[in-house]
Amino acid sequence: MIARSLFLSLAALFFSVQAHADTRLRLQDDQPGPTIHKNVYGQFAEHLGRGIYGGVWVGESSRIPNTRGFRNDVVQALKELQVPVVRWPGGCYADQYHWRDGIGPRSERKKTINVNWGDVVEDNSFGTHEFFELVEMLGADAYVNINVGTGTPGEMMEWIEYMTSASDSTLANLRRKNGRAKPWRVHYLGIGNETWGCGGSMSPQHYSDVYRQFATFVKTPADNRPIIVASGGNNEETVWTQQLIDSVKESWTLRMDGIAHHYYTIPTGSWERKGFALGFPESEWFSAFFQTLRIRGFLESNVRVLDAKDPKKKVGFFVDEWGTWYDSAEGASQANLYQQNSLRDALVAALNFHVFHDFAERVRMTNIAQMVNVLQAMILTDGQSMLLTPTYHAFHMYRPFQGARHVRAQLRDVPDYRVGNRRIPKVSATAGIGKDGKLYLGLINTHPSQAERVQVSAARSLAKASGRLLSGSALDAHNTFAAPNQIRPTPVELTGSGGQLQVELPPRSVLVVALE
Ligand code: AHR
Repeated sequence: MIARSLFLSLAALFFSVQAHADTRLRLQDDQPGPTIHKNVYGQFAEHLGRGIYGGVWVGESSRIPNTRGFRNDVVQALKELQVPVVRWPGGCYADQYHWRDGIGPRSERKKTINVNWGDVVEDNSFGTHEFFELVEMLGADAYVNINVGTGTPGEMMEWIEYMTSASDSTLANLRRKNGRAKPWRVHYLGIGNETWGCGGSMSPQHYSDVYRQFATFVKTPADNRPIIVASGGNNEETVWTQQLIDSVKESWTLRMDGIAHHYYTIPTGSWERKGFALGFPESEWFSAFFQTLRIRGFLESNVRVLDAKDPKKKVGFFVDEWGTWYDSAEGASQANLYQQNSLRDALVAALNFHVFHDFAERVRMTNIAQMVNVLQAMILTDGQSMLLTPTYHAFHMYRPFQGARHVRAQLRDVPDYRVGNRRIPKVSATAGIGKDGKLYLGLINTHPSQAERVQVSAARSLAKASGRLLSGSALDAHNTFAAPNQIRPTPVELTGSGGQLQVELPPRSVLVVALE
């Protein structure tokens, strides 16, 4: 009896090994699709914890090497990342922010209380001029989020005039007096943030009226018209998208160019006990991916709502906050949202990129939360020290996808990665034809311990591939200030055969290669 069941289980094992052929991937590079907007790789920087102060801005008198108050090390790293757009000043903070507090001589700026994030005193030394100086240094687009919760359309109008007017008006002259002659270019203007929550606890109906009122007064010179972004829903909600697309009708006085959705990845799926950034069990490695991949369904359902009313795809669907959110570890608090960042975060980021690429026609901007020292950050700082996180490396590896033409990547015979009764695909793939004309491929192996062989074919013959691989010795492999290069990408060169390419994808890895 024992011998028989042993025989049966060995036979089952043999069969399952035999049954799994290699994963096959076919790239339709002869039929490139829509352009992946560069701003899909956008960032978010809020006055929260050490996101701005200590992270980006240290002030001119700091001992930390800086240029006019901006940390040299952080700015240099962000330049290398080719950050395409930065959203500022929040988040929840946007709805308490009064722009006049942040202009003029720094020593005379008002001190306010950041009631959203720990009641810390905000000295307003980073304001409008500093924000635009930062985005100009980075060569990034500016995404300014307007205060709707405690602001007025009048306050917004005056800020817009201050930022964009080339006239002889009092506000334009005040900007000149404060050191900026030329108007700034405002690429995006967000009308409120999470208006269902910290932005005012509004209903979708009420907010759509408020949106119409505010958006009517977005008055700028014709050559400096921002993309106007409505604040939408979160997670699986479509009611905000539905309400906004139904009630905001474009006219000569009113526009809505995008709706901004939020979705955070919480490994356990519960805000009460989210899970930790490091030292987590395999079940939370898996569930972080499981939870993050739910975004595909949320995008599908919202895009369906938009397609029914806006078939010409005029209105973009933006995800202007996304990323992992863990329980506060030692040294961190709910008020500063500082968290470590591991290999798992890099895979979460890359999985999201792949989904965003699939919705390239509608999803034309996303902003990971947040750029430095907050939530799923690119960079962590501690006094003089700085480290690049695995998420930074993922963004860096995927740079060629900014502005690339999307290429359909058809996967076949992908095994499941299962934990309990839930499963996700072991392999995820994306492809694009970069602005340099090269065909780029991104591959992820979500499995913690098993490699996967992927047979890649394309319309063109594939002779070789070169790029970089990110993996680590542990599920929570991460960089520390003492050991900042524990995890970083390594170069990869592959040679094709018979016009195809065979990729051995190590466990827990992300690969980006250019195919020739
Ligand atoms: O990113 C942190 C916070 O998360 C933002 O301020 C808010 O919009 C969201 O709830």
